[in-house]
Amino acid sequence: MNQPKQQKLTQTQAATQVANHCHGFLSDCIRAIDLCAETPVLCDIAKRLRSQIATKKIKIFEANPLPALAHLSLVKDMALAKRFQTFAKGLPWDYSPRTSDKGTELAVCDFGRVLDMDAVVDGLMDSLDVGVIYVDCHREYPLHSHPPHELYFLISGTAQWRYGKHEEYQTLTAGNLIHNEPNDRHGVIAGHTPALALYAQWS
Ligand SMILES: [Fe+2]
Repeated sequence: MNQPKQQKLTQTQAATQVANHCHGFLSDCIRAIDLCAETPVLCDIAKRLRSQIATKKIKIFEANPLPALAHLSLVKDMALAKRFQTFAKGLPWDYSPRTSDKGTELAVCDFGRVLDMDAVVDGLMDSLDVGVIYVDCHREYPLHSHPPHELYFLISGTAQWRYGKHEEYQTLTAGNLIHNEPNDRHGVIAGHTPALALYAQWS
């Protein structure tokens, strides 16, 4: 008996499928951020993120699953993390210009490459970028600082995070929401499992 032929998706079909998953995942992250937000600034960002993706506008992109994602199966601290696993390899990942590993230890995905989120940016904010950062087991995203604000919503991994006004690294787990004000030094060192976090950066 002939085996049914598996049809290969076109790039447009594959990107659309992944972008739909990404939109749902991002919507749920924003809902969680809204619930965890304890300051007016973070509540405002959750609101702005929600309005940025209110109209789902999908971009066409090519998957780029970097070698850093080798331990993606260990990303499972909460339902959001397990869900992320199902479409993560179809995303257009980049390596970080802050490290020299070229995507073997660390991967970043700007969701602006997956969904068109530019239309709603208004005069109150110059920019609002959102995406995910993945740091493989025991690897480090080095200390750095920058003028834009940045929040991280931790999705998986018990890791050492330096953030805000802290001068020492703190152990944080999935579900934490952290905020770096302009020029706060911040970074992360992953533990036994990868550190996965949603980030949003704005000025
Ligand atoms: Fe940063």
